[in-house]
Amino acid sequence: MTLRFLTAGESHGPELNIILEGIPSNMSLLKEDIDLDLKRRQGGYGRGARMKIEKDQAFFTGGVRHGRSFGGAPVSIKIINKDHEKWLYAMNPAPVDESIAEVSEQLAARFISKVRPGHADLAGAVKYHATDVRDILERSSARETTSRVVVGAICRKFLANFGIDIFSHVLNIGEIGLSESAEALRESLDYQSFKDKVEASELRICDTSETETRMKEYINRIRKSGDTVGGTVEVFAVGVPVGLGSHVQWDRRLDGLIAQALMSVHTVKSVEIGMGKAVGEHPGSVVQDQIFLAKEKIDKEFRYSRKSNNLGGIEGGMSNGEPIVCKVGVKPIPTLVSTLDSIDLETQNDSKSHFERSDVCVVPAAGVVLEAMLAFTIARAFLEKFGADSMEEIQRNYRSYQEYCLTR
Ligand SMILES: Cc1cc2nc3c(=O)[nH]c(=O)nc-3n(C[C@H](O)[C@H](O)[C@H](O)COP(=O)(O)O)c2cc1C
Repeated sequence: MTLRFLTAGESHGPELNIILEGIPSNMSLLKEDIDLDLKRRQGGYGRGARMKIEKDQAFFTGGVRHGRSFGGAPVSIKIINKDHEKWLYAMNPAPVDESIAEVSEQLAARFISKVRPGHADLAGAVKYHATDVRDILERSSARETTSRVVVGAICRKFLANFGIDIFSHVLNIGEIGLSESAEALRESLDYQSFKDKVEASELRICDTSETETRMKEYINRIRKSGDTVGGTVEVFAVGVPVGLGSHVQWDRRLDGLIAQALMSVHTVKSVEIGMGKAVGEHPGSVVQDQIFLAKEKIDKEFRYSRKSNNLGGIEGGMSNGEPIVCKVGVKPIPTLVSTLDSIDLETQNDSKSHFERSDVCVVPAAGVVLEAMLAFTIARAFLEKFGADSMEEIQRNYRSYQEYCLTR
């Protein structure tokens, strides 16, 4: 395993902690590289009050010296949960004195027994023998996606050294879609202008201001009715060389690895690669991406091009040099102001589910988290192919592979 990470920390605990092992030595790495993506995760129309309380910042605690990774050391990062100040008793790692009124009041106020449908609450409380469902909520919360974004930002920085870029944009919010196909909108602009337009949009769409207004009005209506809304995100990688992943074993196939990584993001319910489930609706002659010799590429880059990219840049579990394109279904978040029917685990009676301050729509933010998971998966596959110890070694190996690819 060349690249791996672990995260720890709870939604209202003191800190989030991340260890990322396998980043090659001598890679430039600055706090700002990470903070920018943390800010992107906290944006998006439809987010809750917490995004205003927390301005997440990454602090390196290991593996980085003078702005670069060194000696193969794991990179460790912490993020301080500012909100923890209001949870000092409820989330204190040390035992607390419940005979003090202030302590017992906070514990009672934070105690949860009314499980929320759509969350980890019920299954988690049963599985881990929890009386206070907060034992489950705190770790299952999407606060953890902050840690994924840290990992993704470092992987994104690594991939940029090799001309690989990862990006996402939103395709629909509930019943409001884009005015044209995602492909048409993407191709109507050069790549940088497309990215700039998406970044400037509170909904991370590349479309007209009318579409954005319609989506915002829709979110406002949903918010007023006490409901939540999901959507679809397209996340893709460009500049990926031919040959990441492998056909030779099930667990080395890049499509499988990407699907697992994207599906692991909170609230994701579907992952499609390329035209996805629509492959079953067309004949093979339409679905396969036919190959031709692109004469203008000879002696410059991999010389074969495709007439389409229906298979999303992956064939036989390997990248084929085309952009890797995934479409991801994001469910409406499960904490509803209107509250859903559920049960109280303490009394075992019917009850409305617990409500805790919550977002209404997280689709744009989910896009940033999905970018992180795609960046991690591509970076790991890249490191497996090109060596993993130092940037110098990987750059040498990559250059030599590129030269070889010119001859095929
Ligand atoms: C960026 C992001 C923010 C989220 N914020 C909330 C939230 O405020 N309230 C909520 O109920 N769910 C939120 N979710 C979704 C839940 O974390 C998720 O639905 C829950 O953990 C159950 O996991 P599952 O939907 O993957 O089964 C968020 C998800 C993401 C990706």
